[in-house]
Amino acid sequence: MDLLIKNGTIVTAKESFIADLAVKDGKIVAIGKDLEVEAEKEVDATGKLVLPGAIDAHTHLAMPFGGTVSSDSYLSGTRAAACGGVTTIFDYPVQHKGETILGLVGSKKEILEKEACVDYAFHCCITDLNGGQILDEMEKAVEEGITSFKCFLVYKKENMMVDDATLARLLLRAKELGAMINVHAENPDLIDLNIEKFLSEGKTSAWYHYLSRPEFVEAEADKRAVHLATNLKAPLYLVHMADKEGLEACIKAKEEGNDVFIETCPQYLEFTCDVYKREDGRNFVCSPPMKGQESQDALWTALKAGLIDTIATDHCPFQSYEKDWGKEDFTKIPNGCAGIENMYPYMLDAANSGKLSFERVVELCSTNPAKIFGCKTKGSLAIGKDADIVIYDKDKEFTVSVNNMHSDCDHTIWEGKKLHGYPVQTYLRGSLVYDNGEFVGTPGNGAYIKRSPRK
Ligand code: URP
Ligand code: ZN
Ligand code: ZN
Repeated sequence: MDLLIKNGTIVTAKESFIADLAVKDGKIVAIGKDLEVEAEKEVDATGKLVLPGAIDAHTHLAMPFGGTVSSDSYLSGTRAAACGGVTTIFDYPVQHKGETILGLVGSKKEILEKEACVDYAFHCCITDLNGGQILDEMEKAVEEGITSFKCFLVYKKENMMVDDATLARLLLRAKELGAMINVHAENPDLIDLNIEKFLSEGKTSAWYHYLSRPEFVEAEADKRAVHLATNLKAPLYLVHMADKEGLEACIKAKEEGNDVFIETCPQYLEFTCDVYKREDGRNFVCSPPMKGQESQDALWTALKAGLIDTIATDHCPFQSYEKDWGKEDFTKIPNGCAGIENMYPYMLDAANSGKLSFERVVELCSTNPAKIFGCKTKGSLAIGKDADIVIYDKDKEFTVSVNNMHSDCDHTIWEGKKLHGYPVQTYLRGSLVYDNGEFVGTPGNGAYIKRSPRK
């Protein structure tokens, strides 16, 4: 055996139990009490939780956006991921008009082969059907393991938005191929109307970022996407859900038996729109923005009731000097925040304080994203699965600071957040990549995850 983790509490989405776990050639090969095996390396996990590595199904690494490029490269973003217990990321490369899916993904793969510190997959953002060519190419993409595609219903001026007919075509084609369409739902025309009004009135602070994209602006697009998907009987995954009205519409569709999946992010669970009133409010600017208390309460209620499927980060950081471009005009603030290293610790802290169970956190952060997006070897601690493992100390006190994060970003919206419990080790397919505060992995050791289509 290569690795034997002894006497930890193994947590799956269904149960927790004390056992040993053995690893050979990157795979989990045995789980049981007092395993009688010789291993090259033994780790005593007595009193610790042994968890599957998290899957962050929503990242934007090195992404050209907002007049710049997001400040984590594939290397620094995946390094930070490993240090936060994330062993697989799903990045969102954005197609330029005329570009092919495989051309785009191929260019990203070339970089990740050298830089990835954890495993990776892609949801490809489609911005243009290239006269229908993309609909044909989707079949090949699915064969190559790219089984999900994203549509922005917003970012019209940035040329990233798709119209409703394009969304409908993509939903139908994805259904045919066993693929999934992910949507970022906000209504761009309402946003532009609000922006025009606020700027003409000289209302330029970060607070107006929120007021130009309030609850109903997101809800309209959530409902439109769900309406299309349910009527076309196509699966739909809503990314970064942040508003109560849209959430309720998605839950209703889900309860009526439709394949509607809901993702939310830690920032919407922790912060409300009040952050935009802070002096450093621009650092919290992301889209959709944090919403009011009622929306946050609705997200927690749905999480506890099992009605939200996944937690992901939407990790898309920008440096302070870039955020400062919008000091005098909120429309110039690049949209996005860092979170890749904070997701699992934050959600596990919620379990540690009794808000959710540890099993539910594992389900939200690992098991469900693996299932929904066809990662057969990921998402659980079970024989035959990849040995992506996090050892978690429930008693370790940790305060988030930019100084103890492993991203390249020079600030964090999580600064000062106190967490009870923290990951102490992360293993990627059996190799130690994070050890008590230090990244100890090797860039380039992350592997591409070829995903399976839905049945
Ligand atoms: O503000 C955000 N979320 N930036 C990243 C791009 C996106 O919309 O997901
Ligand atoms: Zn988005
Ligand atoms: Zn995003």
